[in-house]
Amino acid sequence: MILSRRQIIKNTVQLTGLGISSNIIPMPLLAQTLDYGPKEGLARLHWNENYYGPSERAIEAINTSSFKGAYYPDHLVDYLKSMIAEYNRIDTSNVAISAGSTQALTILSQVSGRKGPILSTGLTYDIHLQLAKNSGARIIKVKDNKDLSIDLESIESLTRNTISAVFIVNPNNPSGMMLDPDVLRETVKRMAQKTLVVIDEAYNEITTDPERNTMIDLVRDGHNVAISRTFSKIYGLAGQRVGYMIGQPDVVNQIKINGTGEASLSMAGVSAAIASYNDKNFINFSRSKINEAKDMVQSGLTFNGLSYLPSETNFIFVDLGQFDANDFRDEMLKQNILVRGKYGEFHNWSRVSMGNLSDVQRYIDALPMVLNNLSV
Ligand SMILES: Cc1ncc(COP(=O)(O)O)c(C=O)c1O
Repeated sequence: MILSRRQIIKNTVQLTGLGISSNIIPMPLLAQTLDYGPKEGLARLHWNENYYGPSERAIEAINTSSFKGAYYPDHLVDYLKSMIAEYNRIDTSNVAISAGSTQALTILSQVSGRKGPILSTGLTYDIHLQLAKNSGARIIKVKDNKDLSIDLESIESLTRNTISAVFIVNPNNPSGMMLDPDVLRETVKRMAQKTLVVIDEAYNEITTDPERNTMIDLVRDGHNVAISRTFSKIYGLAGQRVGYMIGQPDVVNQIKINGTGEASLSMAGVSAAIASYNDKNFINFSRSKINEAKDMVQSGLTFNGLSYLPSETNFIFVDLGQFDANDFRDEMLKQNILVRGKYGEFHNWSRVSMGNLSDVQRYIDALPMVLNNLSV
């Protein structure tokens, strides 16, 4: 499709509002509308959010708590900590609450990085490790298997006392794939005898069997393991910035004394997290919507001759074959659909997140034209 100049200018303005293009002079603030979510008409399938959030209960809590926004939320942080401890049958000294899980992961990475090299996996969510690297940490990345799954055996073989921590994301981002929980549990137990093992379980609640897939039981049983979780994914609270880490009290204390942790939390965010934590109806509803969207996208991809990795998350990693993921992203953008571009050397893999069903349908409908435009 050839865009008219008017359309290009219109798109450019939309992109500027999203902070996507930095080489364009921004419009005066007064001429812009203040959008809290995606711009009208833009399918936002490039971040792994839950379109269906926040839940009704969370919104009510945000509204009600806003009237008491003059006060620091310490007592609410303690309340949330107790809820998480009670649900997981652990002590509150095992729980650190942070501004998104990224904050706790970053503090722990920086602390670990001061003690020795950190071991991690190939293609993964590792902003926190990059930040630790910026403060001097050495990160050792273990290449993934050919099918893009995590090479757990190699990770174990490289784990020794001199490694300060092992960081694994399960299910992984952007592959969406999950390690076999039984194999992971036994491997983590052995590795934890030598060093701290951190499992990022941001997508655990989306998986088919969250209780079986989590490694929180290892913390409960006293192993040197830490698990990060977030309210940003299934709970639909990415904008409220609440996450948590479950670990042994010394790890939790390290997070507490080395960063701004609990002092970075807002009353609205913590109140929403409290209201959402045990809301099984909303969690089940969100999971079913994500699965419905995944079924639609998977059928659409297959229909258009594309393959993809099995996903236990709210996104799908698509093999574009001969096509470049940045070109694919740019073609989708012309249709006002946002998807991720290429990841490092993985130039022909594209990640698409599950938004609302109509946006997902737009992605599917755009596939034939986008693929056709790429092949000419
Ligand atoms: C695997 C993983 N961990 C952590 C995060 C960060 O989430 P939060 O919003 O809790 O900082 C993300 C976000 O995409 C993620 O994919």
